[in-house]
Amino acid sequence: MAELTVTGGRRLMGEITVQGAKNSALPLLAATFCIPAKCTLQNMPALSDVSATLSILRHLGCTARREGQSITIDATTPARYIIPESLMRELRSSIFLLGPLLARFGRAEIFAPGGCNIGARPIDLHLAAMKQMGATIRQTDEKIILRVPRGLHGADINLRFPSVGATENIIMAAAIARGTTQLHGAAREPEIVDLADFLNRCGAKISGAGKSDIVIEGVRRLHGCTYQVMPDRIIASSCLSAAALTGGEILLRGVNHAHLAPVLPAFRRMGCRVTAVNDALHLYAPRRLVPFGALVTAPYPGFPTDSQSAFLAMACTASGVSRIKETIFESRFHQAREFAKMGAHIAIRGSQAEIYGVPRLHGARVKAMDLRGGAALAVAALGAHGQTTVTCAELIDRGWEDIAGTLRRIGANIAPS
Ligand code: EPZ
Repeated sequence: MAELTVTGGRRLMGEITVQGAKNSALPLLAATFCIPAKCTLQNMPALSDVSATLSILRHLGCTARREGQSITIDATTPARYIIPESLMRELRSSIFLLGPLLARFGRAEIFAPGGCNIGARPIDLHLAAMKQMGATIRQTDEKIILRVPRGLHGADINLRFPSVGATENIIMAAAIARGTTQLHGAAREPEIVDLADFLNRCGAKISGAGKSDIVIEGVRRLHGCTYQVMPDRIIASSCLSAAALTGGEILLRGVNHAHLAPVLPAFRRMGCRVTAVNDALHLYAPRRLVPFGALVTAPYPGFPTDSQSAFLAMACTASGVSRIKETIFESRFHQAREFAKMGAHIAIRGSQAEIYGVPRLHGARVKAMDLRGGAALAVAALGAHGQTTVTCAELIDRGWEDIAGTLRRIGANIAPS
């Protein structure tokens, strides 16, 4: 089990170039399975979730080769349509292969996907959409067997919730289905736009990505391309949180300012000075943060649920009371009890957290419960008095490339232990 040791007390100052986005890299890797040719994806972060997805693609008969930050996939001759349980359980994004498998093979056998334990995370929206596009579905005790006897066809699909994964699965399946798909109530996250841009560069005909209504006109065949993955907006926000919480100053390079629009006002309410400098973002923090008031997580362009834990960490030592309402996942506050071990004063009532700022946290031995919660513990430890050990730190490696090396570059005293 991996551990991180953090000694707090330093103001973080310096420059960081933001990694490629995990939540775009993963669907893009899955989308290469729809393409009977070579694709090269650039700016691909070195993450355990990316490695796990490459293992699944290789199992399905693709070749996959990493050279630095680029990964080349060739899905010309797929060989299997069954994803073994061991691989499926490793990560949530294994479900992204459902659409590509049905599109390329006309069949798929999957298990319930894994992923961070932040809630029930059903896949009913994915399955219902595939059924509308022509799939038959049979569920046994442990797996789901899908067949598309007459091939996938376009459909008029209404999502009751703007599910990111379901939107991505539908786009990938519809890209090479027969006919046109109208998708209403789609997720509007920037990662959806990245996926559509990638597929359109491969010859797909997708319009409206980033809006609630997307039209996908199926094409017979896609061709390969080279594509650069967007920067990670959640890691960018976490890096800003690390500087903000330690009263420091940071220049983030390679960010997309528009993607950070949902979180920047909250940093400013806490007393941070945030300015755009070309493709960089500069943050200058006060000695002590003031409360951001109240945050409510919501689908994009609302406040992102994945940034919620880092803002909870900052609120722990702000000069007053802060409130967060989590509306996306039912168990995203489970990390609160670990913050309490560091002296935080947090009251959880259902989906609402009330954080009473204390002057300073103290070091403790704490456990990462999920990727974003674990990263938030490490960020909180940067401002704490003394030494903190974060256990189960392998959860952080799922989405934050070399968190210790990244934060050391701006002066943090942090190392794998
Ligand atoms: C993606 O998960 C991200 N993961 C999550 O990031 C992110 O928190 C989430 O979108 C919301 O933005 C990846 O992209 C790999 P959803 P996903 O489908 O697709 C319900 C991280 O830390 N729902 O938008 O699983 C579901 O229960 C991770 O990087 C259904 O009810 O999220 C949840 O309440 C965590 N039925 C809500 O929708 C379904 O079929 C949001 O889920 C699907 C989802």
